[in-house]
Amino acid sequence: METVNRQFRLAARPVGLPKPTDWEFTESPVPDPGDGEVVVKVRYLSMDPAMRGWMNAGRSYIAPVRVGDVMRAIGVGEVIESKYPGLVPGDHVNGLLGVQEYAVLDGNSLTKVDPALAPLPVYLGTLGMPGLTAYFGLLDIGRPAEGDTVVVSGAAGAVGTVVGQIAKLKGCRVVGIAGGPEKCRYVVDELGFDAAIDYKAEDPIVALGRECPDGIDIYFDNVGGEILDAALTRLANGARVVICGAISQYNATEGMKGPANYMSLLVNHASMTGFVVSHYGARWGEAAREMAGWLAAGKLSSREDIAVGLENFPDTLLRLFRGENTGKLVLEVASG
Ligand SMILES: NC(=O)c1ccc[n+]([C@@H]2O[C@H](COP(=O)([O-])OP(=O)(O)OC[C@H]3O[C@@H](n4cnc5c(N)ncnc54)[C@H](OP(=O)(O)O)[C@@H]3O)[C@@H](O)[C@H]2O)c1
Repeated sequence: METVNRQFRLAARPVGLPKPTDWEFTESPVPDPGDGEVVVKVRYLSMDPAMRGWMNAGRSYIAPVRVGDVMRAIGVGEVIESKYPGLVPGDHVNGLLGVQEYAVLDGNSLTKVDPALAPLPVYLGTLGMPGLTAYFGLLDIGRPAEGDTVVVSGAAGAVGTVVGQIAKLKGCRVVGIAGGPEKCRYVVDELGFDAAIDYKAEDPIVALGRECPDGIDIYFDNVGGEILDAALTRLANGARVVICGAISQYNATEGMKGPANYMSLLVNHASMTGFVVSHYGARWGEAAREMAGWLAAGKLSSREDIAVGLENFPDTLLRLFRGENTGKLVLEVASG
């Protein structure tokens, strides 16, 4: 019997927040795999702020999704048919599966994951792309030293939770910035951050002055905008500002707002460096092994926020921009 694949395709390039009409929900038969290809039944999809950028035209670190194509998404799933020598039915894999129920892909493009070591959604968060982003951004660019004051925005999200926890492992004092009292409580009480600032309740410039009396040695920026500007006013001498993302700007309709307080870099002999995690592809294995060790030893805690049902994809993606997720936002497409 022919298997039907349901998919979300990009119908139009959004202006501002994506609207329901920017998507088309389609059905088509699952094609037979060619030589070297596998058929993957999609189990969980990663909801990433970057997906908003992939919907825009123009040059970036990756080609835009074309109008009419299945929306790009990282996912984990189960191999159900294989013409690739390295994978057999029953194997679980991580890769660019797309917003659909079945993906037919080159076996070379997939990474095998072990559901016995960690639940599948963890491979989209702490043991996946966001965890590696935290690892390389903090350790390679932030270069933490014991006693440093590290501030991370988006602190209760997929990347931020891991940044703060690794910084604690390295002996730093960690201050998180997040929206709302529950997220602030979570990062302090459950993840061991030293303090948290609710940017929706108080002025981040005032709060950073109180929580970082000796200044900020590393600011890991996930949000951009006014919070980046606030952090720039509180840098310590020799500070490193890590530009990981700018979610506050991704749906801007009148151009992104850049930092105004950048002269603080000059005054404090500080640096501001951007990065994309794919640049570190050659070292992913090494980092994933170290992170898996920390997770197994209870030194890292991982939280996934799981929404259910492929048909709920458009609204689930928007939860990132409404701040409705705590930990890694994942969409369950098919349970095990
Ligand atoms: N450079 C790379 O290679 C790389 C790789 C992965 C991710 N990233 C970036 O890392 C950042 C975090 O990604 P993630 O996957 O970990 O997402 P996330 O933090 O799990 O989810 C997004 C969070 O952003 C916050 N947010 C939304 N709108 C905001 C606004 N206007 N101002 C301030 N905060 C806002 C919300 O938290 P609150 O409730 O606290 O507002 C929301 O929960 C994003 O900017 C993403 O693009 C970069």
